[in-house]
Amino acid sequence: MNKSEIQNFTLNAAADGRIFLIGFMGTGKTHWGKIWAARHNYSFIDLDEAIEKNEQNTVANIFETRGEDYFRQKEAIMLRTMDEYTNTIISCGGGTPCFFDNINWMNAHGTVIFLEAPPVFILKNILSGENKRPLVKKLNEAELLFFTEQTLKERNEFYRQAGIILNAEKLLETSIDSIILPKE
Ligand code: S3P
Repeated sequence: MNKSEIQNFTLNAAADGRIFLIGFMGTGKTHWGKIWAARHNYSFIDLDEAIEKNEQNTVANIFETRGEDYFRQKEAIMLRTMDEYTNTIISCGGGTPCFFDNINWMNAHGTVIFLEAPPVFILKNILSGENKRPLVKKLNEAELLFFTEQTLKERNEFYRQAGIILNAEKLLETSIDSIILPKE
């Protein structure tokens, strides 16, 4: 595919109306996903919440009682039910693209947008929120920064397969207007 074919592919996928937001914890996937969905009259789904509803359990509890492997399997299964929704923004978990070929599935079923941010920005956001995230809840600030730097290095090869990469530090309500409404 040349560049303009890739561009057309991306816009066609967006026209199908299914957008996957990916990126590390604390990059604003849920925050911006809700704002963009409201702006464009799209539905919004948080994949973690869909898993919690289906399991009748919190993500933190699933990690604790069933373990991460179980969570990742469930996550991959729930992700693959998202193809029934159109005109929908789906905010994925931070690890979603990195397991079970999920990134290829997402690229084949919609437009994938990676919210990219440096570790310090991520750290600030994780620390300012309620810390319910099972992967990081026991870490102090220095450990959290180290974990973020290391995990980002491992995950970037998956994140960077997204069709569109946006700087998470510079997002606006209008940031995805041109993606949802391709220019004539
Ligand atoms: C995870 C991120 C979380 C959630 C789970 C695992 C990860 O989602 O899916 O705790 O592996 O990075 P958020 O990115 O929405 O916090």
